[in-house]
Amino acid sequence: MEIKMRSLDGINLNGKKVLLRPDINSPIDPQTGAIVSDDRIVKTIPVIRELIDGGAAVAIIAHQGDTLDYQNLTDLSAHAARIEELLGRPVEYLDDVCGPAAIARVKALQPGEIVILGNLRYLTEEVSTFEKDVKLTAEQYGRTRLVQRLAPLFDLYVNDAFSAAHRNAASMVAFQELLPTAAGPLLFREYGELFNVLHNAVKPVVFVLGGAKISDAFGMMKPVLENGTADTILTTGVTGIVFLAAAGIPIGEKETNFLRDKDLLGFIDDAKNYLLDYPEKFVLPLDLAFEKNGLRVEADAADLPGNALFLDIGPKTVAFCANVLAGAKTIFANGPAGLYEDERFAAGTRGIWEAIAASDGHSVIGGGDTVSSASKFIDLSRITYVSTAGGAMVRFMSGKKLPLILAMEKAFAAGR
Ligand code: 3PG
Repeated sequence: MEIKMRSLDGINLNGKKVLLRPDINSPIDPQTGAIVSDDRIVKTIPVIRELIDGGAAVAIIAHQGDTLDYQNLTDLSAHAARIEELLGRPVEYLDDVCGPAAIARVKALQPGEIVILGNLRYLTEEVSTFEKDVKLTAEQYGRTRLVQRLAPLFDLYVNDAFSAAHRNAASMVAFQELLPTAAGPLLFREYGELFNVLHNAVKPVVFVLGGAKISDAFGMMKPVLENGTADTILTTGVTGIVFLAAAGIPIGEKETNFLRDKDLLGFIDDAKNYLLDYPEKFVLPLDLAFEKNGLRVEADAADLPGNALFLDIGPKTVAFCANVLAGAKTIFANGPAGLYEDERFAAGTRGIWEAIAASDGHSVIGGGDTVSSASKFIDLSRITYVSTAGGAMVRFMSGKKLPLILAMEKAFAAGR
């Protein structure tokens, strides 16, 4: 299977006016308003440089925060300042998305100039609650004020925002209907890496699925079990505990109550079905750690206490997983193995990340908590690819067609 999107290669950018849609949505310090991690901003520099070096004039549209995440809903002036610093050339911020000031500025934009327009989420149609309540097609989004006002001013639309690919918003899916369209290098790489894990992975392929969001883990294991991609799934975190329960291992009353409170007991039946259908694919925790009198205590899975919450995998599990990971040619990991923020329960997560870092296999990871936990224990450069995406990655790996990908493929098929 191949990727059906046009890249920037071979496009003559000289003198062109380009509308660039990256994802520079970043965590913001609620007290100071400062950007806490500039990872996505840093990773957007190559596309801006490529456009400018090619002789284009660039206007950037992007979102920051959401009405759901109100403290992060800021303007993009700090982002512009950081891009200016990283690029070493002027980057203007204009606090208007598609009103008269934005239109006039874009009309006057000269090759080599870069302007960032106002936070897209100042517009009703761009907030994520809108897409939940109002279902519009890409064509219908093409009639929104944003697209109607901006599209006629540009020669090319470039999307480099894989991490927002799950958003069915005008800025993500509608300009492709009207303008020549290309995928930026980050979108290409992010999509390509995950696409290859799903469809072209070199075997043996090992998935490490942990964390507390077990709906994510269960969503992601389904397609790779069904299409035969996954050779082994190492279950850690809460997912591992649910699989132990499904295998008939007593996990005790306290852990069962925890799963009930979180509405996770239903996953035990799903896990039972997976174990019946793919018995040889799963590795379940061999031992777990829990707290007793303020200390870490470990027990074998066959001998778990009834009145404990299991907060980490134990050393036997880490050793077994490390052996599997050493032989893997492709590794995809999501979710920490335990409560790594607490030093007493960090050993499992540390051990898994060290094993992934030490493996010669091609490793791909993504997701906020996953990347933070990995960066705590290993140098991220030892992972082959660290995705900037969270929700988009989980949905893509769960076999869902993402609105951005559909829009890019449609433009490609139409020769735009
Ligand atoms: C993200 O951070 O996942 C993307 O920027 C999308 O943001 P959203 O979840 O607020 O749409």
